[in-house]
Amino acid sequence: MTAAILDGKALAEELRATFKARVAALTAQGQRPGLAVILVGEDTASEVYVRNKVNACEAAGIFSQKITYPADVAPGTVLLKIAELNFDPAIHGILVQLPLPRQFDEKAVLAAIAPEKDVDGFHAENVGALAQGAPRFIPCTPYGVMKMLAAHNINLAGKEAVVIGRSNIVGKPMTLLLINAGATVTVCNSKTRDLALHTRRADILVAALGKPRFITADMVKPGAVVIDVGINRLPEGGKLCGDVDFENVKAIASLITPVPGGVGPMTVAMLLANTIESAERKNQP
Ligand code: GUN
Repeated sequence: MTAAILDGKALAEELRATFKARVAALTAQGQRPGLAVILVGEDTASEVYVRNKVNACEAAGIFSQKITYPADVAPGTVLLKIAELNFDPAIHGILVQLPLPRQFDEKAVLAAIAPEKDVDGFHAENVGALAQGAPRFIPCTPYGVMKMLAAHNINLAGKEAVVIGRSNIVGKPMTLLLINAGATVTVCNSKTRDLALHTRRADILVAALGKPRFITADMVKPGAVVIDVGINRLPEGGKLCGDVDFENVKAIASLITPVPGGVGPMTVAMLLANTIESAERKNQP
């Protein structure tokens, strides 16, 4: 079997086309969606992600404000800015790009964002709502994965899903979404004994571990759906690659996401979706 490709770039473009009318309707009613993105420091990957997010807003007609600080900024300065944005009526979404430099208490920063503007879904209140199965904002990357699975009519109820990675950004919310959809979920991490024992049982395999081409064909069940959340640069040449050995795994999976062009574009699309949703909620009488 050769896998069909789960084309995130094409699906993200389809979704973005549907956003335009919603943004136009909101703008006409004086509620143009607005996103503030805070970037601290000069991490190259973060700079690229933030640029993609801001450019995508512009293309969709969403107002965006990029706020940058040097790596040694005092945390209080950023907290004050967040407090200001919480009360800014032009802003419906606030995103603080992670990771933050050492002097920051990441949890305190996320807690400072008004939960109704937390379009990343990282505030404890929103994490709790997701865990209860009644999410307010779904974190963008796992939200994008769920949209991709839905677009291919993958029914998750009763399926064996294996998530590799337990981060707050991807692994944990991905796990909650799969649980809520009725899958039987196993969550692996770097300490997992015999990782392949778990991955070989997966009908749905989500790789979010951050190691280039780590998931090899012998670790994958024939016919599995393979979702690659990794974005890595190969040491030789700096080419982008995922956590999955795409060329070899493609030969035995039924569906697989490429890198680039898979999950990445969907993450950005779902950030726009959450920002528009936030503005629509505020616009409700
Ligand atoms: N760093 C890596 N992914 C993300 C994300 O989805 N949101 C934020 N805020 N930071 C990130």
